[in-house]
This record gives sequence, structure tokens and C-alpha cells, in this order.
Amino acid sequence: MTIAVLGATGMVGGRVVTEASAHGHRVLALSRKPASESPDVTPVAVDVTDPAAVRQALARSSADAVVLTVRTFPADQEFLVGATRTVLDAAARLGIRVLVVGGAGALRSPGDPELPVAENPGYVPDAYRAVARAGVAQLRACRAHAGADWVYLSPPAVLQPGERTGRYRRGTDTLLLGADGQSRISAEDLAVAVLDELESPGPDRHFTVAEAP
Ligand SMILES: NC(=O)c1ccc[n+]([C@@H]2O[C@H](COP(=O)([O-])OP(=O)(O)OC[C@H]3O[C@@H](n4cnc5c(N)ncnc54)[C@H](OP(=O)(O)O)[C@@H]3O)[C@@H](O)[C@H]2O)c1
Repeated sequence: MTIAVLGATGMVGGRVVTEASAHGHRVLALSRKPASESPDVTPVAVDVTDPAAVRQALARSSADAVVLTVRTFPADQEFLVGATRTVLDAAARLGIRVLVVGGAGALRSPGDPELPVAENPGYVPDAYRAVARAGVAQLRACRAHAGADWVYLSPPAVLQPGERTGRYRRGTDTLLLGADGQSRISAEDLAVAVLDELESPGPDRHFTVAEAP
């Protein structure tokens, strides 16, 4: 496959690029300041706030799939939703599948399905409420989009660089907890899940993963 990663220099994007390359795919590393020393990875400078540039970059590359994994500090819901619509629009036109690496906030709370994780102080402290809500808005933008072939991957509550075990648990739209009550995965194993989904799409448009027991 040819896989475009938008946000390729980020914590998640960089690991998706590495994993996709290791699987033998052709990879396009998209971001404002991309860099790559690997012959299988083509850096492409693009700003996601420029819809024409995004469309052109995806069209030129003949990508089969695009992984959207951008964010800003501080969290900016308007940016995130706008970037998501831009990628969905371009992908729908070009017939490209979109995998959005979104937020845990868009998941249901374990044991309280009507309470979104974004509104649950047990998982999201006040300081992270805005970023969690931005993820909810991002999923809403996907659901509202007519025509795009998208899948939204909500990470667990804690997503950090760590070990690549190659194993993980997969769930649907409820936050997954480990035996210790923690919800987490390494960014390396999240990247494994991204590649698995791209290579063998699952049945769910919204799914989550967590570290294997
Ligand atoms: N528990 C959770 O729910 C959780 C935890 C962590 C992350 N996440 C989600 O995972 C995704 C990735 O997060 P991350 O930690 O990997 O982010 P990150 O390390 O901050 O990387 C962000 C990426 O976005 C790119 N970017 C920013 N603005 C851009 C623009 N205008 N045009 C093009 N590219 C742009 C950056 O590259 P340039 O600066 O080169 O453009 C960079 O590659 C986000 O959606 C985030 O919300 C969720």
C-alpha cells in the first residue's frame, strides 16, 4: 500500500511511519516540516490548514490510505475539526481511506455508557477537558461527513512512547481498562494497531485499543 501519514513528525505519526515502513509499505510523511532519511519514506511539506495543498499532496502520491494524527499546543478544537474535514473532503474525492487517530474523550465510560470519557473527571482532569472535548467534536465531524471512508481510533487515556510488544487488546467505543484499572498503551503498540486496521479493516468505524494483559 501507499500510506500517507499527516502529522508524521509527531509522537504517534513518527511511530506509524516506522511501523508502516517495517511492513514494506510506501510511506508519505506529511507535516509542515517533514524529514526522513529512509528511502521508503517520502517527506512532503504540507500545512493541513491549506485544503488545496492537502488535496494536491494526496492526489500526487496516489495514496491508498491517509492516517490523520495532527494536533496543536494548546489544543485547538477549530483547528482539529477543520483539519479533519479537510482530509475527509480530499479523501472522499480521491477515494482514499482515512484513519483518524483521535482522542480517548470520545469513548464511553466503563460502567456508565451514557457518560462520555471527556466529561468524566475520573479519567479526564479539568486541565485536559478542552482537548478531550476537541476529540468528541472531531468524531462528530467524521460522523457528519457524507462520502468519506473513515475509521476513528480512540487511544486509551494514557498514550506515551514506550515498548513495542506487538500485542494489544481491541475494543469498540468504550474505554478499555487493564486489571489495575489503568487505561494505557505505548505509542509503538498503537502504531501496530493502526497498521493492522489499514491492512485488515475491522467492522467498527469507532474503535479503541489498550495494552495487552
Ligand atoms: N489519550 C489520548 O486520547 C491521546 C493522547 C495523545 C495523543 N492523542 C491524539 O493523537 C494524535 C497525535 O498526537 P501526538 O501526541 O502524536 O501529537 P504531536 O506529537 O504534537 O504531533 C503533532 C503533529 O502534527 C503536525 N502538525 C501540527 N500542525 C500542523 C499543520 N498545520 N499542518 C500539518 N501538520 C501539522 C506536527 O508536525 P509539524 O509541526 O512539522 O507540522 C506533528 O507532526 C492527536 O490527535 C492527539 O489528540 C490522544
